[in-house]
Amino acid sequence: MVSKLEELYQEFSKSLAELNDQAEILNLKAAFLGKKGKVSEVLKSLKDATPEERKEIGPKANEIKDNILKNVNDKLAKIEVDQINAKLEKNKIDTSVFEDDYVNDFRHGGLHPRTLIQQEIEDVFLSMGFEVLDGPHIETEFYNFEALNIPADHPARDMQDTFWFTHPQSEEENKHLLRTHTSTIQVRGMLERKPPFRFIAPGTVFRCERTDASHEMVFNQLEGMMVGEDISIGHLIYFMKTLLKEIFKKDVTVRLRPGFFPFVEPGFELDISCLICNGKGCSVCKHTGWVELLPCGMVHPNVLKAGNIDPEKYNGFAFGLGLDRLVMMKYGIDDIRHLNSGDLRFNEQFNKY
Ligand code: DAH
Repeated sequence: MVSKLEELYQEFSKSLAELNDQAEILNLKAAFLGKKGKVSEVLKSLKDATPEERKEIGPKANEIKDNILKNVNDKLAKIEVDQINAKLEKNKIDTSVFEDDYVNDFRHGGLHPRTLIQQEIEDVFLSMGFEVLDGPHIETEFYNFEALNIPADHPARDMQDTFWFTHPQSEEENKHLLRTHTSTIQVRGMLERKPPFRFIAPGTVFRCERTDASHEMVFNQLEGMMVGEDISIGHLIYFMKTLLKEIFKKDVTVRLRPGFFPFVEPGFELDISCLICNGKGCSVCKHTGWVELLPCGMVHPNVLKAGNIDPEKYNGFAFGLGLDRLVMMKYGIDDIRHLNSGDLRFNEQFNKY
């Protein structure tokens, strides 16, 4: 019977060597080791053997069973490895290809000029101890108007054409809107901290306006606020001048005019001489030679109160920089609509590789 087992093992080995298909190999295994398999059939006849014969046959049968199993598993594993290698070979990535010339035709991703300037401004203000805050695009009337000293019947509400989520004449309290300015973050910032503090807050704002070379419905501002004891207009002017010097890397002609904004008193318009036409007059500066860039002022006591700050003890300044205008001035872009155009040829000009 031992020789019978050895013969079976030879037969198995020969067959296995010829197979390369996983299913066929499993069938072969079953044909030998399965319940009705050849090895099992031989073992069934063990019951008729003498005890001596059993002693000899038992271990031999186990050895052959083990060998068959091992060979089957080895072969299956090898097939799997071969399959993986074949796949890898087929999908091979040749990294050396990036040295080839044709790669120069690929487009590189890059930062939008507004992002570049925003990051530059954030760095300047961070170095002067300011925090950088964020706020929601969808706001309530409270944050966009009321807390900023613009009550419901105030004519200043008409200064900013608002996208309302609910009808403006509806009775509903605290109606929702798309924020018309980043000044909303002044209120959120004040309510979340105790003076003294200073922060800036860049963000997108929305107005239901006609678009032209210098107006967009969706544009960007950068708000700033500093509150403490004995803050003066001198502080305001110092920070604004530092900002402009860092951004333009040269002295820019500025002028300060009185400006009306309900949330500041006194309020100013800081204009810079138009850098597109060098003050000669063009469509961006509406042929005046000046561009309104930085409305600002000393925070109105009512606004401090709305932010839970005692106006008897503290005061401060605020500003609302027109970020897109600044980008236009810095890079000499003559139409604000380029900024949201999504045209890659436009964006690519500002990134150096
Ligand atoms: N929120 C104003 C606007 O969008 C701009 C502004 C004016 C912001 C004066 C300020 C400020 O912080 O002090 O028209």
